Amino acid sequence: MTSDMPAPPQLDAPLIRALRQDLQAASYTVERVEDLMGPVAAAALRRDDPAPARRALRPLADPAALLLRLLTLGDVLTTAQVDQALPALGAQGAARLGLVGPHDADTWVAQIDLSAYSAQDDIGEIHWWIASDRAELATGEALGSEHVLGVGGASLTLARITPRDRVGTVLDLGCGSGIQALHASRHADRVVATDLSQRALAFAAFTAEVNEIELDLRHGSLFEPVAGETFDLIVSNPPFVITPRSADIEQWTYRDGGRPGDVLLAEILHALPNHLTAEGRAVMLGNWEVSAGAPWSQHPRTWLKPVTAAGIDALVIQRESEDPAQYATTWARDGGVTPRDAAWQPMIEAWLNDFAARDVEQIGFGYLLLGRRPDTASGAMRVIERPGTGSGTLAQHLQMALRMTGTLAELSDEDLLASRPVRAQDVVERRHLQPGAADPMLIELVQGAAFAHTVAADQVLAAVVGALDDGSLTLAQTLGAVCALTDLPLQETQPRVLEAIRDLLAEGMMRL
Ligand SMILES: C[S@@+](CC[C@H](N)C(=O)[O-])C[C@H]1O[C@@H](n2cnc3c(N)ncnc32)[C@H](O)[C@@H]1O
Repeated sequence: MTSDMPAPPQLDAPLIRALRQDLQAASYTVERVEDLMGPVAAAALRRDDPAPARRALRPLADPAALLLRLLTLGDVLTTAQVDQALPALGAQGAARLGLVGPHDADTWVAQIDLSAYSAQDDIGEIHWWIASDRAELATGEALGSEHVLGVGGASLTLARITPRDRVGTVLDLGCGSGIQALHASRHADRVVATDLSQRALAFAAFTAEVNEIELDLRHGSLFEPVAGETFDLIVSNPPFVITPRSADIEQWTYRDGGRPGDVLLAEILHALPNHLTAEGRAVMLGNWEVSAGAPWSQHPRTWLKPVTAAGIDALVIQRESEDPAQYATTWARDGGVTPRDAAWQPMIEAWLNDFAARDVEQIGFGYLLLGRRPDTASGAMRVIERPGTGSGTLAQHLQMALRMTGTLAELSDEDLLASRPVRAQDVVERRHLQPGAADPMLIELVQGAAFAHTVAADQVLAAVVGALDDGSLTLAQTLGAVCALTDLPLQETQPRVLEAIRDLLAEGMMRL
């Protein structure tokens, strides 16, 4: 499959300058093309259905409409249409750059995907163009083994959970077409981006040049290209998809690290401590196998033991999990293989056999956040489940939760009792009462932002949290007063309230 793939785009500075000029002149942005196709077609395209967009854009002569049809939808355009969409570059220049190839005598078809990308971060609005291999929606074919991915759901998730405060150096491990590295360039002095795939690096170099962004791109596996170097921030959307090492199944470099089971993540986490600066942090995505009868966190905990022993705090969040059949279906479809293909049955069976061989019942997906705490011999670890994608500024919330993991590990109960925690502004109390009843059956403390986390509370905890609203009282004073008012024995009540307050602090529902 690889040999049939068109060559990656050329790194030709004058031609890329002409391309940039054309993309700017056409206002080839997400907003513009969505305006042109309308909300229904835009929503369908986000679901990987190009048909409504094709129907909406076909009658339009607008250059942005032509660019989307050519460079994302895979439509065949005439020379006149390509010249109209790319007046500075022209159809001949686009062909020399490797954007398009001849379809027949007077028509052209894209060789790559070049999509507009818009985002908003703490620094402001972003409008970039990202080059990648053409998606299944454009080619109608399964993806090649050396396919270079565009911006997918996982890419957006990682970009959203990555902290954006100013740092010196960033490493993007497994950069693909370069989306994480581009984001990092906004808040780092220097960005090193690595990939095992030369093809991916060629796309990343092209994307960087189109967007006039400087990246230090390096070829090699995992940390090989950065031996002996440390970074303030390491981001990675690694090839974490667990794939049977079987001849019956296509191997896709863009998502599969070539190891059995979830060993790739173990390897990355083993090497990672040596590449973090004194206060370095890392943010990663991953899959982990959950064996029958074992807690979901068993593998992440095992991987992270040596990491915490190296003085690094760790926070693991499981967002969702799938059973082996769901997982096999998800990733077979992601590669463009469908139940109508002959490859489907052997592929699904290979996946199920592979998981059965290790007694795997579920496959977890989530986030791993690491942070080195200076002057600490041993880091702390917290593992939590938070279903859903959450809302608001997740990156800041997760960094706070990571820092709090370390802080709470060092905070004795005496120090906690003497502290003056304050309830976060976005926490509300929800009471469930049977109609007409005076006392609630259930009290819940609910966070407004982040994961909208909900904690069940008894009357005492609710009263303590309710009173801790301005930092004027210590936890000991508040708990003592609540116990006196409710006639509860302080000695017996204190341990469970302390544990609950620790959880609320770890969650950001209380602040120290
Ligand atoms: C899931 S993609 C992530 C791409 C991009 N960073 C993003 O967030 O969309 C994983 C990338 O890791 C690369 N990769 C695969 N095996 C690797 C290895 N052993 N070392 C470094 N990169 C690898 C793939 O080529 C691919 O570009």
